[in-house]
Amino acid sequence: MEMREICWNQDWQFAEIDHFTNPNSRDVSQLQFCDVNLPHTCKELPLDSFDERVTLGHWLYCKDLIWKKEYETRRLALRFDGVMCCADVVVNGKLITRHEGGFTPFTAELTDALIPNETNKIEVWVDSTENPKVAPFGGVLDYLTFGGIYRDVYLMVTEKEYVSSCKIWSEDLLSAQPNVKATVEVSKSAAEVGGKLVLNLLDKNNNTVRSLEQQISVGQSSYSFETDFAKDELELWSVDAPTRYRVEVVLTAANDHTDCYEFYTGFRHAEFTVNGFYLNGKKLDLVGTNHHQAFPYIGYAAPKRLQRKDADILKYELGLNIARTSHYPQSPHFIERCDEIGLLVFEELPGWHHIGDDAWKENAKLQLSEMIRRDWNSPSIVLWGVRVNESLDDHDFYLETNALSHELDPTRQTAGVRAIENSEFLEDVFTFNEFIYDGETVPIRQQKLITGLDKDVPYLITEFAGHMYPAKRYDAEERLMEHALRHATVQDAVLGDDTVCGAICWCAFDYNTHCEFGAGNRTCYHGLMDAFRLPKYAAAFYESQISPKIRRVLRPATIAAMGERSKSGLCPIVVFTNLERVKLYSGEQFLGEFFPDRERFPNLLHPPIIAQEGLNFLWGDYWQGIRVEGYVGDEMVEVVNFARDPYTAGITAVADDEVLTADGSDMTRVIISLVDQNGNLMVYNSAVARLRLEGDATLVGSKYLPLLGGSVACWIRAGKTEGAVKLFVETDTHKALPVEISLKK
Ligand code: GAL
Repeated sequence: MEMREICWNQDWQFAEIDHFTNPNSRDVSQLQFCDVNLPHTCKELPLDSFDERVTLGHWLYCKDLIWKKEYETRRLALRFDGVMCCADVVVNGKLITRHEGGFTPFTAELTDALIPNETNKIEVWVDSTENPKVAPFGGVLDYLTFGGIYRDVYLMVTEKEYVSSCKIWSEDLLSAQPNVKATVEVSKSAAEVGGKLVLNLLDKNNNTVRSLEQQISVGQSSYSFETDFAKDELELWSVDAPTRYRVEVVLTAANDHTDCYEFYTGFRHAEFTVNGFYLNGKKLDLVGTNHHQAFPYIGYAAPKRLQRKDADILKYELGLNIARTSHYPQSPHFIERCDEIGLLVFEELPGWHHIGDDAWKENAKLQLSEMIRRDWNSPSIVLWGVRVNESLDDHDFYLETNALSHELDPTRQTAGVRAIENSEFLEDVFTFNEFIYDGETVPIRQQKLITGLDKDVPYLITEFAGHMYPAKRYDAEERLMEHALRHATVQDAVLGDDTVCGAICWCAFDYNTHCEFGAGNRTCYHGLMDAFRLPKYAAAFYESQISPKIRRVLRPATIAAMGERSKSGLCPIVVFTNLERVKLYSGEQFLGEFFPDRERFPNLLHPPIIAQEGLNFLWGDYWQGIRVEGYVGDEMVEVVNFARDPYTAGITAVADDEVLTADGSDMTRVIISLVDQNGNLMVYNSAVARLRLEGDATLVGSKYLPLLGGSVACWIRAGKTEGAVKLFVETDTHKALPVEISLKK
């Protein structure tokens, strides 16, 4: 059987519609078209300080569907993974589908609108305005939504008898005889014709562990499967061993037409309780971050590789075990990667504070159900967010969203993120944005003070930090250090409170936003990393909680310069590390030995080291730099050297990937850094990097990049010709070795 889903991202024609004249006119004669590939943003933007209204408008995407003989008997459809915000799909001049909501997939059935033996014209009319009838719009919003066909599009070619959906789950994985259930829906034609359905479950070695069969009865489109397993027969999915199974649903219709619907799933038991979160019966302290899906310049239109990379950054660079998809369903590639690597996900419906009228609520419920249907087989998802982030109570609406979620997926708990105390608790898990800590107050409050209930309930902190203490990656080190210590303080307090399942900080990366928020340039500097995903010291704090068996971390939160801080000097020297202790030297002089601060951070696995006692750095003294040695037992295992006389020794440019797919859509990031003689970033060198690209690729963003904080990044988008691409990077004084990337089909 040939491919059921064909990637349909390439070779679209794109035009901006002059929305001042008549956005509803379907006259294309005056439009200026250009060639684009998907994912696509309707407007590329500068890094910051732009007016986001340039992204709010009307746009047209067109592509021809070339007729093939085999289509005569087939069902053809287009699946759109995400179009911001409303889309009309028009085939040969006839409107066939309208979808309202920018974060969830939809399918346009083409079959009846196609003209055999002709070139069929597909048009997608996109409205990216912040339509107040559609969630999340209608109020102010601390994020941007950009616009365009910003996720993948697939052409689905099947027989008319096909499998339209499958959900698989288990409710009793921890019992002596776990039971797995599945429901399969088949198309109208399949239910008319009848035939046979086989559901195969294959393990990671591709062995079929179950093959279940059922006849398709004429007139019936929904089928239930059920099978028992012996204890330990199923390998469970977990954050450390994210074992997945492949599900194959094979339909053989009575007319011999066949279809095979395949996907991956995993089996795990996840439960938020009054005593914490349990995965497969074992307590797991949740430590995570909120994740926005936006990128510099291209907004939401990041291809698969970048979506997957984001999940990798959270799991492997930051060492986190949960992400919240604030505040909307995110890329299927991101979710799939979370499944693959074992990163838990709290996924929520689109919204921000505002609840609209009845039509708006219906639309929000629709998007909620599309989100659950899309992701109900993903083992990483452990919680559905059924309440608009930080909205006020709305009894009837939230009764409905909870009921809808429970009906579609009784296996997962619901949550509703709020920032008001004593709000009505209709969900399974009370999720709260705890913005109390300002550096002096208590880090978190007791849950009963927040819930207003007289008993403990399953409770998760879903945001903290953020606007309470924004920090740019190129801020003064005292601020960056305090930013990091605030994260450490709150995470420590959460770990010390058994009635809290964990804490998800605000947020992973700096992000573009509306003018009501941010630092005057429409950017919120709330990230552990900047918008390029380059780390601040707060990232080093999270990284330092990784087990030293996985990776040894030694990150002094300083640039070790005598005149950087107020009153001069280096004290305290904060070191984020998972090692046992550090020794500090200045030149050959031993300054002292320092240990993790268990008194201030009694609950963290690896408390920061705060070196102060006995250290005396005086303004005007002869200065010999600092050496930070990290020890395990008697062995020095890591060392960081800070020179007494740092100077810019070189510029480096390193790509995340050496090979890209030559499809016109694939992208990789290149990190450019100015380093001193020890390889440390020259954070206050004010040089500008100039970039030049050779080969069939485009540079995303500007070709002149200020090296704020000592580093910056850019993205390279592949063209469609195989071959080598070279990026040349230089400043007035230094040249990097060229970055070489090969494009392959
Ligand atoms: C929260 C909100 C987030 C973000 C954050 C900034 O109130 O839920 O979306 O705006 O504040 O700290």
